[in-house]
Amino acid sequence: MSVADEIKSRIDIVNYIQQYVPLKKAGRYYKANCPFHSERTPSFIVNPDTQSWRCFGSCAEGGDLFTFAQKHHGWSFREALEELARQAGVELRRQTDEQRQQAARRDVLRGLLQAATDWYQERLWDTPQVLNYARGRRGFSDDTLRAVALGYAPEGWQHLRDYMRQLDYSDDDLLEVGLLGRRDEGSRPYDYFRNRLVIPIRDERGRVVGFGARALADGDQPKYLNSPQTPLFDKSRLLYGLDRARQAIRNQNRAVIVEGYMDVIQAHQAGHMNVVAQMGTSLTEPQLRLLTPRLTGRVVLALDADSAGQNATMRSLEVARQTLEADYSGRLSLDIRVLQLPDAKDPDDLIREDAAIWGQRVGEATAVADYVIEAEMQALPDSPSIQEREAVARRLLPLLMASENRLYSRDNLQKLAMRLRIAEDELLRWSQRQKTVNSRRRESVATEPEGATPSAGPMQEDQNRERDFLGNLLRQPDLIYRINRAFRELAAGDLALLRGPLEAFGAMDLVNRDCASLLQGLQLALKQDEIPVLAWLQEHGDALQRDTLQQLERETPSSDLDHARTVMRQGFGGDLPVVVKRAEAVDWQRELLRTALRLRLRRLERERRELYYLLEDDDRGKDALHERIQLSVRARNRIDMALQNQTPANR
Ligand code: UTP
Ligand code: MN
Repeated sequence: MSVADEIKSRIDIVNYIQQYVPLKKAGRYYKANCPFHSERTPSFIVNPDTQSWRCFGSCAEGGDLFTFAQKHHGWSFREALEELARQAGVELRRQTDEQRQQAARRDVLRGLLQAATDWYQERLWDTPQVLNYARGRRGFSDDTLRAVALGYAPEGWQHLRDYMRQLDYSDDDLLEVGLLGRRDEGSRPYDYFRNRLVIPIRDERGRVVGFGARALADGDQPKYLNSPQTPLFDKSRLLYGLDRARQAIRNQNRAVIVEGYMDVIQAHQAGHMNVVAQMGTSLTEPQLRLLTPRLTGRVVLALDADSAGQNATMRSLEVARQTLEADYSGRLSLDIRVLQLPDAKDPDDLIREDAAIWGQRVGEATAVADYVIEAEMQALPDSPSIQEREAVARRLLPLLMASENRLYSRDNLQKLAMRLRIAEDELLRWSQRQKTVNSRRRESVATEPEGATPSAGPMQEDQNRERDFLGNLLRQPDLIYRINRAFRELAAGDLALLRGPLEAFGAMDLVNRDCASLLQGLQLALKQDEIPVLAWLQEHGDALQRDTLQQLERETPSSDLDHARTVMRQGFGGDLPVVVKRAEAVDWQRELLRTALRLRLRRLERERRELYYLLEDDDRGKDALHERIQLSVRARNRIDMALQNQTPANR
């Protein structure tokens, strides 16, 4: 989360604007006379779901918390950031002495954990029986053993302790990270892991924070002994393997969640790098947030097939639903699928049998709706009573109706109706009732003085699309001119369109704050022509813009784009490879243009919803609103047509 997002998650935009503008609640929105121009009918609206504001009157502007504060107080972005950070209690940079000490202490403990990892690893390599177990029974290659730094904790009560004391670590240090245990306060501490295969657990940045340790002797209980909860190790906030899986998850835009350490190690060894483990617990919200929206919105749950696994799957799905509900006002923007494994096999077994099958299975994972309906139906007796069927319906409806896409939720409803033999509109009525109850609950939470509403982040899909878009635009920023030309062409001289829904592409087209801000910077950079655009941004952009810039440059796969750039510079070289590359470049640029058009469609859709709302709620000013809606529909049609017609053949 960027600092800006952190601040936005703590300051509710409605509460903030309310201090300066008398907002009136109306339906899901709030409205008032626009504070930025004089008017008699209110056309200034604040949308708590997206945490944004917009004036539909003559100033026709909008944005988020920051743009409001900037405009209202006349602040620069930097000033807004500093002031709002102060109000939100978010540290921008400066740390207190205490924080500095804590950070230093954590560094010491991390160093200790790394030293222990190294020591365990050496013990593995000089203990042949255990090394054989890792290679033979588990089927790990030596490369894998080194990549995950698998280790061995020898039999005995204080080997690690003795070694660590040589390195000047104290018992207290070792107790704090859970490497020593003791019966009670004051008794002599002993090595926590003994005669076990040791799996270092790393955070998403690859730093060792704890260990999982598998029993080697039959009958040693538990099968896995994990580090206890420590200041650095919180199992519910970690996904095992994420440090190695990040890149692949982002590139493939999909994460697979399995149950165990061994499953992950095996999957990675077989080249399926996008696999992580929730380590035997059921999925938690913080775990999910490690993946989404930062890395991907597509998650496959591959949990064990036994009934415990099935329960865990259902619980995980419920957690996913609640997480997203809290964030996105009940619209599930995660695409979750369930991979059902054949009886009594875990991914580890499956992959070792046939690595190719694994990829295939992941590709065929079941949509959540089908999975939960089947799972619940299986649990019903042979000829279930109407009460039993109703109970199933009520349990499943929230999950099935949470799809972002109306079509899907309709589809889900149909499936459920058919399987339960309950009329579809009956189900729909129940679902709507459930939704009202839930939103009332949410509202009452939101109005509690301490509970600032969590910011409703933009949908995952939009976020990804925007980041992709901007990442690519950065590779050749002057393509923005081409995009704007496309909008001008679509407006075909119609001034109302040109000034309204087909205006030049800009920050309003992006919902992601970081992207919007960077785009603004980019536009400033393009206004000068002394320094190359990116260099200008590095030099004159604010800290956030520079940060986003770096992130995007890392995220955007560059191979073919770099070709594109070279080719653009060289123009037609005449020889065949260059011509081929040039064709690739054209493809890429056309895709960028299409994305710009799609982003504009999303924006028009957001605005249209709000316009309709104003229409419903306002007696006066109806004509002007109608006109705006018509204009927006016309623009929409033209963009739709352009997107349809833009096949390679007729360009
Ligand atoms: P499993 O029992 O399915 O283990 O537990 P596994 O990975 O298949 O192990 P092998 O193949 O028999 O060696 C799945 C995960 O649950 C957690 C661990 O994270 C494990 O990887 N677990 C399991 C524990 O934390 N403690 C236990 O006692 C058992
Ligand atoms: Mn296993």
